[in-house]
Amino acid sequence: MKVQDLKHAGLKKWVDEAVALMTPDSVEVCEGGQSEYDRMIDITVKAGLATKLAKKPNSYLFRSDPSDVARVENRTYIASKSESDAGPTNNWVDPAKLKETMTGLYKGSMKGRTMYVIPFSMGPVGSDIAKIGIEITDSPYVVANMHIMTRVGTKVLDVLGSNGFYVPCYHSVGKPLAAGEKDNGKWPCAPMDDKYISHFPDTREIWSYGSGYGGNALLGKKCLALRIASVLARDEGWLAEHMLILKLTNPSGEVKYVTGAFPSACGKTNLAMLIPTLPGWKVETVGDDIAWMKPGADGRLYAINPEAGFFGVAPGTNNDSNFNAMEAAAKNTIFTNCGLTEDGDIWWEQIGHGAPGKTVIDWKGQTKPAPQTDKSPKGEEIAHPNARFTAPAKQCPCIAKEWEDPKGVPISAFLFGGRRPSTIPLVNQAKSWIHGVFMGSITGSEVTAAVISDQVGQVRRDPFAMLPFCGYHMGDYFKHWINIGKKADADGKADKLPKIFFVNWFRKDAEGKFMWPGYGENSRVLAWVFDRCDGKDNCVETPIGNLPKPGTIDAPKGVSDAVMKELCSVDIEGWKKEIADVRKNHYPKFGDRMPKELYDELDAIEKRLGV
Ligand code: PEP
Ligand code: NA
Ligand code: MN
Repeated sequence: MKVQDLKHAGLKKWVDEAVALMTPDSVEVCEGGQSEYDRMIDITVKAGLATKLAKKPNSYLFRSDPSDVARVENRTYIASKSESDAGPTNNWVDPAKLKETMTGLYKGSMKGRTMYVIPFSMGPVGSDIAKIGIEITDSPYVVANMHIMTRVGTKVLDVLGSNGFYVPCYHSVGKPLAAGEKDNGKWPCAPMDDKYISHFPDTREIWSYGSGYGGNALLGKKCLALRIASVLARDEGWLAEHMLILKLTNPSGEVKYVTGAFPSACGKTNLAMLIPTLPGWKVETVGDDIAWMKPGADGRLYAINPEAGFFGVAPGTNNDSNFNAMEAAAKNTIFTNCGLTEDGDIWWEQIGHGAPGKTVIDWKGQTKPAPQTDKSPKGEEIAHPNARFTAPAKQCPCIAKEWEDPKGVPISAFLFGGRRPSTIPLVNQAKSWIHGVFMGSITGSEVTAAVISDQVGQVRRDPFAMLPFCGYHMGDYFKHWINIGKKADADGKADKLPKIFFVNWFRKDAEGKFMWPGYGENSRVLAWVFDRCDGKDNCVETPIGNLPKPGTIDAPKGVSDAVMKELCSVDIEGWKKEIADVRKNHYPKFGDRMPKELYDELDAIEKRLGV
């Protein structure tokens, strides 16, 4: 489709301005559909950027530049008009200055390339909860990934109409081509110091430059669906959260929907697709990364998954850890920075088996001996540790039939969790909404020896798993959560809000061994949560919240009653330290915008602990 055929005058003007600035050789408005997807892939194959996999139908492997393998948080900006609105935990630059710098970078940045204008919907097209974005990009890799991760094309323009709201998103890889120059197998991107992932919350704009990688370039995901959407949600009275959404069915066929927020590397995708070990229970997937939730007329929160695909971490994914993800990525999938086997398949660390044949090609394109096992020494990985698969959600064997319901699904429970080798019990229900907000606000993972040595043992807090993704001041974000509870109270509908739980699959014993097997066994905790939502008599009140009554969570094989007891009890001394850490090191980070209600909560817990 041509730019002059766009019916939305504001959109047409915006595209014309981008064309004048970025001077692409040609411009194309994406219409969606398989043939467009195939054409994008074909362009990348011809440019030497993608390899067709012999072993997986319609699937391709890309290798990025070694500098362009992950989100770049120190190049990510929240450029609100006032610095204080971005808050102390975001990088802030004056929006006018940032636009001046980036306009300089965008000038001529698409020379030698095609500009693609991608109309996309976050959420089912036309859903009341969905939002439209338009991404301008010079990357056919981005177009193909957006086809999988979002709903793309003319159907979105039809909903947008001639004056609808959309979030304008600029993206350029920042590698213009000279006359006759081709990519020739070299992933195009700009040097690190020229990369910018910029958000303008006041004007709801996204400007991304210099990176072709997922979270930096597929602008519907972290940039729109979390950073900009969090601001829209604050202003409009809903929630845009870094949460999985799962459907839980008990043996009687009763259904509840649960969301969960976990920092990166806590197994969120695995939990969303879990295969229960508990007989008769069923878990199905609505989403694995992001939930948008709006209060319905009945006072319940209705959630949609704004995405249409999974952008999952490949290493560690195997038939045991996540069979459903392996199936979802068995065809029509884009792989990035995985290893390539001699027989034309992908390979990664902990895929469950060694690589066939004599050699493999690693993520940097180097030929290496084929690993006999599925492990590699640190630093010598065949797949980059952040290698990814982009797979259509509809290919997931456990996708819930209502995953695209435009009304969303009513949520019964929120889970918060992190990697906490000590102190935090297996599961703990908040006493109230505000206590649950407190739990969300102290979420985090303990730093292990594998990460940064001078911080070992310290908890790196990632409140609500939103620290890298909140488009405004975290203190105001906590306040927004508190206000959702206050509004429900005022409406007499507080009991309709989801119940809030803190979970921890990662407790370790004195020998450093995991005490809880995790994965499918987590269904035991989900079952307890399900019953708790129904008000079943399965808990005991403690100073830190409602813990499982002994015997209400069946121990998995290999977990003794003594271990179960320890997992489900209050570590008073540990909690005193926890609270002291929050008071001294965590809450002060948010300065004077830290809501008083959360300090009150801290006081109340201290009192209950007998400090
Ligand atoms: C990303 O890095 O693009 C991404 C999706 O991040 P995460 O896996 O942390 O959600
Ligand atoms: Na940041
Ligand atoms: Mn995520």
